Amino acid sequence: MEKELIVEFDPQALSERPDPYPIFAELRENHPVHYSPERDLWVVSRYDDVRKVLLDAETFASGKGTVPTGFVAVKPMLITQDPPYHTHLRSAVHLAFTPRRMAKLDAFIRRVTRELLDAIDPKSETDLFEALTDPLPVAVITELLGIGFEDRRTFSHYAGAVIHADRAHGPSAAEGIEWIYRYLERVLPEREANPGDDLVSRLLHPGPGEPKLTHDEVVGFSALLLMAGTETTTNALGNAIVVLHERPEIRARLAANPAGIPRAVEECLRFESPVPGLSRVTTRDVEFHGRKIPEGARVHMAFAAANRDERMFPNGESFEPDRTPNAHLAFSLGIHFCLGASLARAELKIALEELLARHPGYQVFPERGKRLRSDAARGFSFLPCVAAP
Ligand code: HEM
Repeated sequence: MEKELIVEFDPQALSERPDPYPIFAELRENHPVHYSPERDLWVVSRYDDVRKVLLDAETFASGKGTVPTGFVAVKPMLITQDPPYHTHLRSAVHLAFTPRRMAKLDAFIRRVTRELLDAIDPKSETDLFEALTDPLPVAVITELLGIGFEDRRTFSHYAGAVIHADRAHGPSAAEGIEWIYRYLERVLPEREANPGDDLVSRLLHPGPGEPKLTHDEVVGFSALLLMAGTETTTNALGNAIVVLHERPEIRARLAANPAGIPRAVEECLRFESPVPGLSRVTTRDVEFHGRKIPEGARVHMAFAAANRDERMFPNGESFEPDRTPNAHLAFSLGIHFCLGASLARAELKIALEELLARHPGYQVFPERGKRLRSDAARGFSFLPCVAAP
C-alpha cells in the first residue's frame, strides 16, 4: 500500500506555488511511482525513470496527448504524433529548421530586445511580462515563420489558452487553437503565392526530392511553433530573471562577465523548468519500482522533480550557475526533443545579456506577480519590476 503523500499531486496547483520543490522532493524520495486517483495519472519523478519514459516512445506514446487533460489538436501536430508518422513529419520540418536559419535570428533578437528595453521607463514600476518576456518570443517566432503579427496581445491571449488551465477566464484550449488556425489560414495564401526566405515559405515550397507537407500539416506545424515557441520561452525568461534577482551576487558576477550567461541559462532551465511535466500513455503493461502501470494508463513525467534529483545533480536543490555537466530534461529527450532548443537558448542568452548590461540592479516583485495555473507551464503572466531603482 502506498504511503499518503503530504499534499495531493495536482500539477496545476503546484504550478502556482512559489516553492513546489519540497513536494517534488517528497515524491521523488518516497513515492517514485505515485498514482493520483483525482487526475488518473501515474507520476514518475526520478531522473532515471523520466529518462526511461522519454527514450521508449514505443511503450510511452504521445498520440493521445502530452498534457494530463489529453488535449489533442485537430490538425496534425508533431508533438502529439508517434512513429512512423512522427518520423516523417519531423524529417520534413527538420530540413527547414537549420542551424543557419536559427543563427540568422540572433541580430533580430538583439534588436527587438533593445527596442523593448528602450521603451521601459527605468524608474517606474513596469510589468515585465507585458514589456519584455511576452513580446520578445512572439516577435521571434513570427519573424521565423514570416507571418507578422499586428496584434500580439490577442495572439498571446489565444495561444496561452491552449497551455493554461485558467478556464474561468478567457477561451478554452480548443477555441485558442481554432483562433490560431483561422489566423494562419488567412496568412498562408500570401506565402504560398509570394514565397520569401522564411520558414513557412520553405515548408510550402520544399527543395527537389524533399518531402512535401500537406496544407494542413503546414498549418498544424506553424500553430505548434506559435505555441511551443512562445509561452515556453516567455516563462523561461521570466523565471531566469526572478532566479537571478534572488541571487544578487551571482547576478553581479554575470553582469561583469557575460561569458558565464550560457551556462547560467542551462542552470535556470534545470532549476525552474518552464515545462515542469508532460505525459505519455502506455501501450503495454509496465513496471516501475515493483509497481505495475497498466496498458492505456497516463504517465506523467515530472521534469521539475527529475531536474533536481540528487542522484543525477549533486546539490540539486541549489542553484549553481557554473554547473557542468548539466544534462537537464527541460527540453525533453528522445524523438520529441525540443526542436527549438537552440533558438530558445539564443533568446535567453541575448535577453539576459542585454538586461544585465543595461539594468544590472533591476528589482522584480514575484510575490506581487501572477503565476500561471497550468498543467504544463511554470511562469508568470504578470511580473512587476523596477528596472533601475
Ligand atoms: C525555453 C523554451 C522552451 C522549452 C522549455 C521547451 C520545451 C519543450 C519540451 C519539453 C518539448 C518536448 C515535448 C515532449 O517530449 O513531448 C518540446 C518540444 C518541441 N518544441 Fe520546445 N521548448 C522551448 C522553446 C521552443 C521554441 C523556441 C520552439 C520553436 C522555435 C520550440 C519548438 C518545439 C517543437 C516543434 C517541439 C515538438 C518536437 C517533437 O515533438 O518532435 N520550442 N519543447
